Amino acid sequence: QEIKVISEIAHKLGVIARISIRVNPDIDAKTHPYITTGMKENKFGIDSKDIMDVFKTANELPNIDLIGIHSHIGSQITEVNPYIEAVKYLGDLIEKVEKLGINIRYINFGGGFGVQYKNILTHRYIPTEDDETTRYSPLGEHVESVLKMLSSYNKKLVIEPGRSLVANAGILVGKVLYTKQGELKKFIITDTGMNDLMRPCLYQAYHQVVPTALKDTGFETVDIVGPVCETSDFLATKRSIQVMNRGDRFAVLTTGAYGYSLSSNYNARLRPAEVLVDGDKHYLIREREKVEELHI
Ligand SMILES: Cc1ncc(COP(=O)(O)O)c(C=O)c1O
Repeated sequence: QEIKVISEIAHKLGVIARISIRVNPDIDAKTHPYITTGMKENKFGIDSKDIMDVFKTANELPNIDLIGIHSHIGSQITEVNPYIEAVKYLGDLIEKVEKLGINIRYINFGGGFGVQYKNILTHRYIPTEDDETTRYSPLGEHVESVLKMLSSYNKKLVIEPGRSLVANAGILVGKVLYTKQGELKKFIITDTGMNDLMRPCLYQAYHQVVPTALKDTGFETVDIVGPVCETSDFLATKRSIQVMNRGDRFAVLTTGAYGYSLSSNYNARLRPAEVLVDGDKHYLIREREKVEELHI
């Protein structure tokens, strides 16, 4: 349906639309279900059973130039194998599609390259975190492994890295508002939460939390929570960390991707300022939001 809409719009504008078709290769990217995008049960891409019909239809539409094949199988993928499978799938598909006389010029195998979230900072006053991922394949390794396979197809390769470029360039700094010793656990209640960083609440994402002033207090296990009226408003649960008190500051690490971009004004909360740090210089690149802006 969408290709027909694109063709109609292109016709009205008097242009030819160059498009790629996103396919769903039904490959398990072995990541969190909410960020898996290339399996049959996911909404993204054209399923194998329909793919040839869709290519034929697209090729016959007057204002469409079908130039590429695209797949994006998920996010925070730490292994190379799912990409190799995806590229094999795309390669086989290209052979079939080109038999229809369609000249595919681009292969786009999406983004999704995973980054390290645990043990980013290590110190004797910071507990070592259990990490089930023993090795994070670097971006270059992902690309290199599929480049070899793709070279025989003589196509332009497109990738769409997001997280792997920016995740570890950002931190979220917060302050402890209160501490509360519950009957079952201790809560560290902070001035930042799910509206600033949605990932823990959205898909139980893990971010390392590190006090900005490290002290030899020993470790205690706490839930680090925000001030929003949702039980899922947490930054970390069952987290071992140095003893933190009212007024202490801390940094939530690896928040450069899917951090500010997923933030909201939920609960009439104002988004924080953004500060760019370059060596020993820093620049305010986005002002803290003001109440007046919220109610406009
Ligand atoms: C089509 C597509 N390409 C690329 C990306 C970027 O993914 P990542 O940040 O995991 O590299 C996304 C993220 O949702 C996407 O939907």
